[in-house]
Amino acid sequence: MRNDPHSYADLTQGRTTDLVLNWIVDFEDRKLRGTACVVLDSPADGPLDLDTRDLQIAEVIGDDGAPLAFELGDPDEVLGQRLRIQRDRPIGTVTILYETSPEASALMWLEPSQTDGGKHPFMLSQCQAIHARSMAPLQDSPQVRATYKARVTIPSQLSAVMSAAPGSEEPGTTPETRTLAFDMPQPIPSYLLALAVGEIESRDLGPRTRVYAEPGVVKAAAWEFAEVEQMLEAAESVFGAYAWDRYDFIVLPPSFPLGGMENPRMTFLTPTLLAGDRSLVSVLAHELAHSWTGNLINNATNEDFWLNEGWTVYAERRIVQALYGAEAAAQQSRLGRLTLEQTMQEREAAGQTNALNYPQAGLDPDAEFSKVPYEKGFLLITALEQVVGREAFDVFIETYMSRFRFQALSTAGFANFVREALPKAAEQVDLDTWLHGEGIPADAPDFHSDQLAALTELAKGWTPERCPSAKQWSTTETIFFLSLLKPQDAPGTEALGSWLGLRSTGNAELQCAWLARAAEAGISGIEPELRDFINRVGRTKLLKPVIEAMAKGSALRPLAEQLVAANRGRWHGSTRMALDATLE
Ligand code: BES
Ligand code: ZN
Repeated sequence: MRNDPHSYADLTQGRTTDLVLNWIVDFEDRKLRGTACVVLDSPADGPLDLDTRDLQIAEVIGDDGAPLAFELGDPDEVLGQRLRIQRDRPIGTVTILYETSPEASALMWLEPSQTDGGKHPFMLSQCQAIHARSMAPLQDSPQVRATYKARVTIPSQLSAVMSAAPGSEEPGTTPETRTLAFDMPQPIPSYLLALAVGEIESRDLGPRTRVYAEPGVVKAAAWEFAEVEQMLEAAESVFGAYAWDRYDFIVLPPSFPLGGMENPRMTFLTPTLLAGDRSLVSVLAHELAHSWTGNLINNATNEDFWLNEGWTVYAERRIVQALYGAEAAAQQSRLGRLTLEQTMQEREAAGQTNALNYPQAGLDPDAEFSKVPYEKGFLLITALEQVVGREAFDVFIETYMSRFRFQALSTAGFANFVREALPKAAEQVDLDTWLHGEGIPADAPDFHSDQLAALTELAKGWTPERCPSAKQWSTTETIFFLSLLKPQDAPGTEALGSWLGLRSTGNAELQCAWLARAAEAGISGIEPELRDFINRVGRTKLLKPVIEAMAKGSALRPLAEQLVAANRGRWHGSTRMALDATLE
């Protein structure tokens, strides 16, 4: 019986408790070659269905060392291919000899020219939501949690990190290679499996935190994220002791498609966060917060994705409040609300749902991704908090965390727990409407920021001549103000660009916001900046608004098409998908 619309796994056949991975990382052929050993909770016979995508399976062996018959099902566009292993005798572990495809959807193989150093290739994985199956055959459903061990053979001059504790190192079996061991002793859902290989250095930031990056990037990264230990302490004071031993993270080459990915013990981050002024560190706070909300309690299926992200945006803003104050947190909540309303309008117009929880059978999780689970989910968690007050809510968080630690949770399971543990909130907050309704409930929390209110006033009747002096605007304030300008206000956008130095800022978020406005307003002469930006960035969230704005008018559309065509090779599949949809 399948109980995850995005997995062929049938948990009545057994559950994975441990994975043992042995990989040779072959940069020449762009493949992982090796074995995956799936350890099940108890020996059983009958079929065992695993998820795969684009894998070449050579052989399957049981724990008695004898081969097992297997067959691959027809490829499904969304799900990949079912690997059915026939167990004609009680079998507790299956070992699969296989190799990945150069097109593996989880893996990015970068040329040296796509790295900062320019001398060595780089590879990285991105498994959420359902790409782990292109890396290894497994039960690729977040309802299954497993520990893992890995031995990864890489070219000697490179290094590797995984979402696991690093272990011993020994020479590889072929010349000029070495084999690194990793161990993840806590059970994790498969989407948190992660590997990056390249020229990687590291620096300690605190007793339990370290930043990894290419040699030319590590110093800037260490400075940008120096506050990570304070963030950890702030998160622990709300969510309880950090459960994963160390918190390390890696700043990847620009092709990494996301702002960040919460791979346990090794968060993956985009280099576009290196603004030089720590103004974008809330993304690190977000990924760190997933160590509790997501990695300790995880969504049962992608239909419950909002549980991961809504809770994590809530946690992120608690950390931001602790470190940078209530005004900073309120600003981010206000801007989040604006983004949510805009996203919901667009989705509604396109006939897409704005519900937090809806059936996703047949739908590709990458195509379903939006800000709705983040910001509407955040509003729901905050609505619950506001009914009972922060003190009582913090007690609820404690019981919630200890009740579901290391477990998958569904939307219904969450609602039941709220009704049980927070009855007063469940009475006042209409959970069914929040979870399954289309709009934003009228009693949704409202956030006030003095600064943003002042900017709203300033924007009324604003002219380029009225640039206020001196005041240093925060990134959030600037993005907010830009969003208040009329889309076609070319003089205003231009003046703001030169006044705040947005055309040439090292802050990629600001540059994205300005370039998108400038392209839409038809400001002339911005082609070089657009070209630079699109050739440099790989993060979907920053590329999309710029390409979208360029595609709206006829003047910049050919350039957008040309740049997307020229860069698609260095972008992740999910980025390509999002940008192709934008150009359609
Ligand atoms: N877990 C997500 C990234 C993700 C979501 C990958 C869905 C694949 C499918 C991560 O925690 C995240 O939300 N990243 C955000 C940053 C955050 C501050 C909103 C991003 O990458 O923009
Ligand atoms: Zn997240």
